[in-house]
Amino acid sequence: MVNIAVLGYGTVGSGVVEVIDRNGGSINMKSGRDIRIKYVLDLRDFPGDRVEPILVHDFDVILNDPEVKIVVEVMGGVEPAYTFVKKSLLAGKSVCTSNKELVAKHGPELIAIAREHNINFLFEASVGGGIPVIRPINSSLTADPIVEIRGILNGTTNYILTQMDVAGWDFDKALATAQSVGYAERNPEADIEGYDATRKIAILASLAFGRNVDYEKIYTEGISKITVTDMLYAKKLGGAIKLLGSCTKQGDSYYAMVAPFIVGSDHPLYAVSGVYNAIFIRGDAIGNVMFYGSGAGKLPTACAVVSDIVDAAKHLDKHIYTFWSPEELTLAGTGGAVRSFFARVSGSPADCEAEIKETFGSVRFIQIDEAPGEFGFVTDPVTEQSFDENIKKIPGVLGRIRLESSI
Ligand code: NDP
Ligand code: HSE
Repeated sequence: MVNIAVLGYGTVGSGVVEVIDRNGGSINMKSGRDIRIKYVLDLRDFPGDRVEPILVHDFDVILNDPEVKIVVEVMGGVEPAYTFVKKSLLAGKSVCTSNKELVAKHGPELIAIAREHNINFLFEASVGGGIPVIRPINSSLTADPIVEIRGILNGTTNYILTQMDVAGWDFDKALATAQSVGYAERNPEADIEGYDATRKIAILASLAFGRNVDYEKIYTEGISKITVTDMLYAKKLGGAIKLLGSCTKQGDSYYAMVAPFIVGSDHPLYAVSGVYNAIFIRGDAIGNVMFYGSGAGKLPTACAVVSDIVDAAKHLDKHIYTFWSPEELTLAGTGGAVRSFFARVSGSPADCEAEIKETFGSVRFIQIDEAPGEFGFVTDPVTEQSFDENIKKIPGVLGRIRLESSI
């Protein structure tokens, strides 16, 4: 028997209890031990709920109970999650968490404490919701140096973009629905402005490259400025807009970014819709590997957390080595990255065609019926820096979006 305690009975926490209740028999067989939820910690009371008899409001009850071997942190936020997790590890209890904010900020320290105490700090659900990606990086993709990670890493924003594009919803309706079904962060700004995806790419890159990627140093743009008109242009170009996170090794330099991109219909990420996420990982010898599944949501995320509980139960007195040093991985500026850009300009192409061609060389002009009085153009691949410098020379620019593949 392994006693566990669940900190937080919200979307993910209630999912963890439900999955263990529903699938207890097979989970116990796969763990080789019986998993028992001894406590659930939350701020609220849940009268009549299944957890009422095991609900506690004082974390010290859990900390001071030597029978609790695994603590499941699904409260979110940095504090008091960090304090509770650190105390649990120092007390010799393994921790499983879905909290990417905590992992991105304190991952190397918490892993080191777990290592010193011969226990585990596991965080499969912190990236990609129900998609197995952390464990594959740590175990299945160790034969070959990883050179690139790229993907759709946030379920809420992919859901919003899809509903705006395909169902014609406005932004507010799409966000409100994502919140009501439990996809969004407590403060959805983290989703919409790209911060959540930035923490996730930092976690993946830190594991892939073995050194700590400081998420606060990653260039980040969210989707709050994307409009339905942008989507119509993307459609006319044969693509769709997706919020992508990436980290790439080129020579000795590492580049990381989170931003909206127009993804061509020939690209595998084009078809990743709604709350689904997908992550490409490229190794020198293995080539491309892609992971796909629900990027958020109660039960998919809970399944990832429970998979960590099973792993922790299988390794109660054995640390599963994780390669994530506290030494910082220095990121190169984004100015040198080369890609095509789509820009929107007010007026008609005839007004400034010569100027645009003189500035950017070969470009493709595009107009849509739904946006009279403006046009767009697509550049050949240029560096970010030269695009930023040159676009200032064009009058009436309304916006720009990067292109992921040749359209
Ligand atoms: P919720 O807000 O639904 O649940 C958090 C729960 O923890 C709430 O019941 C909250 O109580 C409780 N809580 C907060 N602070 C404390 C505290 N100090 N002591 C006790 N209980 C506390 O969040 P989610 O379940 O959606 O997310 C949890 C974590 O999982 C976050 O880190 C999130 O980023 C991550 N995650 C979420 C996914 C999702 O799809 N929702 C997917 C992947 C990861 P109260 O409501 O009363 O404040
Ligand atoms: N808010 C997050 C998302 C939850 O939408 O992707 C999963 O990490």
